[in-house]
Amino acid sequence: MSHIVLGIESSCDDTSAAVIRDGYLLSNVIASQQVHKDFGGVVPELASRAHEQNIVPVVSEAVRKAGIEVADIDAVAFTRGPGLLGSLLVGTSFAKALGLALDKPIVMVNHLHGHILANFIRQADKPVREPSFPYLCLLVSGGNSQIVKVSSPLEFEILGQTIDDAVGEAFDKCSKMMGLGYPGGPVIDRLAKEGDPLRFKFAKPHIPGLDYSFSGVKTSLLYFVRDEMAKDPDFMEKNKEDICASFQKTLIDILMDKLIKAARQTGIKEVTIGGGVSANSGLRDRIQLEGAKRGWNTYLPEFKFTTDNAAMIAIAGYYRFLAGERTPLDVAPVSRMSDF
Ligand code: KG4
Repeated sequence: MSHIVLGIESSCDDTSAAVIRDGYLLSNVIASQQVHKDFGGVVPELASRAHEQNIVPVVSEAVRKAGIEVADIDAVAFTRGPGLLGSLLVGTSFAKALGLALDKPIVMVNHLHGHILANFIRQADKPVREPSFPYLCLLVSGGNSQIVKVSSPLEFEILGQTIDDAVGEAFDKCSKMMGLGYPGGPVIDRLAKEGDPLRFKFAKPHIPGLDYSFSGVKTSLLYFVRDEMAKDPDFMEKNKEDICASFQKTLIDILMDKLIKAARQTGIKEVTIGGGVSANSGLRDRIQLEGAKRGWNTYLPEFKFTTDNAAMIAIAGYYRFLAGERTPLDVAPVSRMSDF
C-alpha cells in the first residue's frame, strides 16, 4: 500500500513544504525569506510574519508539483522544534488545521532528526545510496554541533556535543567580526578556496571525551585580527583569503578529530554529515579523504538538503508514520527539544 506524506518546515527563516510517496520525493518547495538581509541575522518577528504569508502558497505549490490532490495525503509531518517559537507556531498550526480538515493524522518531527535522516530522501532519477544502521552523523549547523549515533530512523543517541558555541555560530560570528557579511559560512567557504590553510594557526580546544568547544577558536581569531590590524590597518583586506582558509581548516580539524575518535570508539564505519555547515566544501572533501583512509563508507547529503527544507521533515515523519506514531491535535511547538 502506498503512503503519501506532506512535510512542513518553518523552524527558522525558510518556509518549506514537500511531498514524499513511499520514501520518494515528489516535490520540495522552499520560500527563503529576504526580509532579514539588512539586519545581519534572522529577526524572529519578521520571520513569523513571512511564514504566515508564505505557508499557503508554498503548500499549494508542493501539492501541485507533486501531481497529487490534497485529499491523497495520508499524513502531515511538521517540525515541532527546535527553532524560533513564532516561526514554529505557523507550521504547527497549519499542520493541525490541515490534518483536521482532511481527517488525516499529523506527525511531529524533531528538526534535527530531519537533518540526520536527509540521506534517506529518495529521488526517482538518482541511484539509492543510504547508510546502514547503526551509523554516525556529524550534525553541524548554526545551532548544533553533535556526533549522533543513529540505530534506526527512530533511535538517536548523542555521543558528543558542543559545550558552548555551535560551529555554524563560529563561522557566522567570525565572518561578521571580519566584516565579511552574514551568513558567514558560505562567504568563508568561498574565500577559503583562494587561500593558504597553513598560513596562520589558531588555538584548538582540549575538551575531554567527544564534546566540542568553538568559543576559544573564535576568541583566538578575534585577538589575532585585532593585533595585526593595530600594526597594519589593511591586514584584513590583504590577507582575508588566507585567514579564512586557515580558520576554516582549524574548525574542520576540530570537527574531524572527535568524529574519528567516535568512529574508533564505537567501531562504526558508516558515517554521514548533516545540517547547514555540511554544505562546506572543505568539510565535505575532508570527510571523504579521512573516510577513505579509514575504510569508512561516507554519505554526504545533496546541497539542497543541507539547509532547512521540508523534504527531510517529510522523510523523518514518514518513518514515524509507518511506525504508528500519531501526534494529538493539542500539541504545541517547542523552541528547545530536550528529549532527543
Ligand atoms: O542548518 P542550518 O541551515 O540552520 C540552522 O542552524 O538553523 O545552518 C545554518 C548554518 C549557518 O551558520 C551558516 O553559516 C552555515 O550553516 N553554513 C555554512 C555553509 N553554508 C551554510 N557553513 C560553512 N560553509 C558553508 N558552505
